[in-house]
Amino acid sequence: MTSEPQSFYRAVGGEATFRRLVEVFYAEVARDDLLRPMYPEQDLEPAAQRLRLFLEQYWGGPTTYSDQRGHPRLRMRHAPYPVGPAARDRWLTHMRTALDAVDLPPLARATLWDYLERAAHSMVNTFDDPHPLEHR
Ligand code: HEM
Repeated sequence: MTSEPQSFYRAVGGEATFRRLVEVFYAEVARDDLLRPMYPEQDLEPAAQRLRLFLEQYWGGPTTYSDQRGHPRLRMRHAPYPVGPAARDRWLTHMRTALDAVDLPPLARATLWDYLERAAHSMVNTFDDPHPLEHR
């Protein structure tokens, strides 16, 4: 990793920014009828913590994610969950709402969004979307 992501984590406000991002994101997931049932735990807080620690590490913050979870291998970790185009689009919609809530300078926002969009596309592991009646 270059020194750029290190300064990115700091430049966007460090932990507080990622906390807020993930807090808003999971508040949206909590009321999403397609995504919410995919999360195995009743409590979304541990999942929120894993996402926050991963993102902090990715952008040059503390390496707590890998200290606790090992190598991210995110595609492998998502294999148990059917991530189709509809799930991906919902995920990105909630991330956009979350990004709106953190109020970053335009370049930082664009950088983060570009990454999240590419990452979400790379996580797709099925092209079957659940039938609207099957995930209620
Ligand atoms: C594209 C749509 C996506 C869906 C529907 C989705 C869904 C899920 C679900 C159901 C889990 C399991 C909850 C848990 O126990 O942590 C999970 C875990 C996780 N996701 Fe996603 N995800 C998506 C994309 C992404 C992307 C783009 C990233 C990263 C930029 C990401 C990062 C993570 C991380 C870090 C974990 C925890 C992995 C672990 O340490 O076990 N996800 N995701």
